[in-house]
Amino acid sequence: MGELRVIAFLLAFSPFITAVTSSQCSTNGIPLVRDISTLPQDNYGRPGLSHITVAGSLMHGLKEVEIWLQTFAPGTHTPIHRHSCEEVFVVLKGSGTLYLSPNSHAKTPGKPEEFQIFSNSTFYVPVNDVHQLWNTNENEDLQVLVVISRPPVKIFMYNDWLMPHTAATLKFPYFWDEHCYQTDVKDEL
Ligand SMILES: *[C@@H]1O[C@H](CO)[C@@H](O)[C@H](O)[C@H]1NC(C)=O
Repeated sequence: MGELRVIAFLLAFSPFITAVTSSQCSTNGIPLVRDISTLPQDNYGRPGLSHITVAGSLMHGLKEVEIWLQTFAPGTHTPIHRHSCEEVFVVLKGSGTLYLSPNSHAKTPGKPEEFQIFSNSTFYVPVNDVHQLWNTNENEDLQVLVVISRPPVKIFMYNDWLMPHTAATLKFPYFWDEHCYQTDVKDEL
């Protein structure tokens, strides 16, 4: 009887225990189905940004892809940056501008091409192309689902479009990976 009670207790509470231990920085697997509205969300020091790592490399142990859900308040934007992975965006809400420089073989990115993005649009950023996403709609948030390959992402940031590629600064781990990266290091000591 006592044993059955213990088993019943474990069965009843194991989903909650799993949810708590795997909510952040667990590479031991994550629950198969998760409610996105309960996932950790933060601006990671960037005012006007909301970032959720839906499924991540450093955060959850994924090896091939990483998925983010990001919301940019009006007027906010990503840094000018590049990374050697593929990146696909799906615009869920709002509109804005993608600035993209295909000049990864020139000395500097140079003046970027501008693309208008809109709700239910999708776009792809080729490997190593310097780009910046900007919510240029002053009335509405811009919400995007982002899929990147080859995580964890190693981002090279530019102060402006005339900065030489060789002067771009590596930001690794990236803002939302910092916490999990440090945890990993501690675990190894
Ligand atoms: C986006 O496009 C797809 C394909 O046409 C359509 O089924 C869907 O309803 C659209 N979603 C929105 C939010 O407009």
